[in-house]
Amino acid sequence: MGRHRIAVIPGDGIGGEVIAATVAVLGALQAREPGLGFDCRTLPWGSDYYRRAGRMMPEDALATLGRFDAILFGAVGARDVPDHVTLWQLRLAICQGFDQYLNLRPARVLPGIASPLRCVDGRRLDWLVVRENSEGEYAGAGGRVHQGSAGEVAIETAVFTRAGSARVIRQAFELARRRLRKRLTLVTKSNAQRFGMVLWDEVFAEIAAEYPDVATDRELVDAMTVRMIRRPESIDVMVASNLHADILSDLAGALIGSLGLAPSANINPERVHPSMFEPVHGSAFDIAGQGIANPLGAVWSAEMMLEHLGESAAAARLMAAILRVAADASLHTPDLGGKATTAAVRDALIEALGAP
Ligand code: NAI
Ligand code: MG
Repeated sequence: MGRHRIAVIPGDGIGGEVIAATVAVLGALQAREPGLGFDCRTLPWGSDYYRRAGRMMPEDALATLGRFDAILFGAVGARDVPDHVTLWQLRLAICQGFDQYLNLRPARVLPGIASPLRCVDGRRLDWLVVRENSEGEYAGAGGRVHQGSAGEVAIETAVFTRAGSARVIRQAFELARRRLRKRLTLVTKSNAQRFGMVLWDEVFAEIAAEYPDVATDRELVDAMTVRMIRRPESIDVMVASNLHADILSDLAGALIGSLGLAPSANINPERVHPSMFEPVHGSAFDIAGQGIANPLGAVWSAEMMLEHLGESAAAARLMAAILRVAADASLHTPDLGGKATTAAVRDALIEALGAP
């Protein structure tokens, strides 16, 4: 155990609300785990910063963040700032700048939470979505010509490299190998996308040969949406491109009961750069400022951060608290059909951590 330097970027909307709750819970956790400590520094980057400075974060932001062991991120997005600006200048700038090519999005129906799927609990829905997080459809390659005219052309090029697909697919195999069911599903669209996705199919087949202990299958992304709903128990780990896994993980979030529960980790596996932990959800204009955002997705993301930092005991303690709170319907926020506030969930989590 040790002290960890954590850069905290609350961002916009409910990002600030769920991250404030998460930091409070981490503070309580460190008081209960001898030797565990966090030096948290809050960085006020996001849309407010943009309105003042004309950019989402300072020019030397990556140099600043590079001095931390991990980054805890809320969400960005504001009604008066274009989404492609907020996303690219902050979240994607960090993910790509720090080569966080492995995006992990676990999805599991927690005891006490109702999935919108009938009769589906954590025994039938326990997935890990592995998302390529550095290239593909979000490589940022493209441009616009004759802007505003009737003859305008916009080109958005997906970039798939052998090295980029191989490294994320290999990580997915490693993760599948460590799970109970040891099954990995490759999700592509290689019937329609004949180049990049076919490369994925080939690279997957090559790497699969090195993992005889992992059962594999393949699914086209459209068929995968159906399988996630009709046969959730047939899925263990799935690996997909940046865009496809982005979409599938929102669906996964809905199927575990609420997008507000879904955690994620943007990992630089080589640990050259800090990794970033964030809930899957966005800034949620519709509920921002009301104090009713579900903080569990953000807190679960912090649990993933603890695992990444090697703090397994603290992570287990936090996960036990998350499970206790999720199981109690009186502590459900409105997205789960309850009446609890963010603050009530925060306080219950702290209590569930046990005595200091
Ligand atoms: P959203 O994830 O913010 O909200 C979608 C729906 O889920 C809303 O009805 C919201 O109330 C609900 N929801 C989400 N998180 C919740 C929570 N913790 N507790 C309770 N309910 C929750 O997605 P939306 O509305 O498409 O986007 C809003 C803004 O967020 C946009 O500007 C978008 O670009 C941005 N965004 C940012 C992301 C990020 O920073 N990583 C990810 C997704 C969206
Ligand atoms: Mg998304």
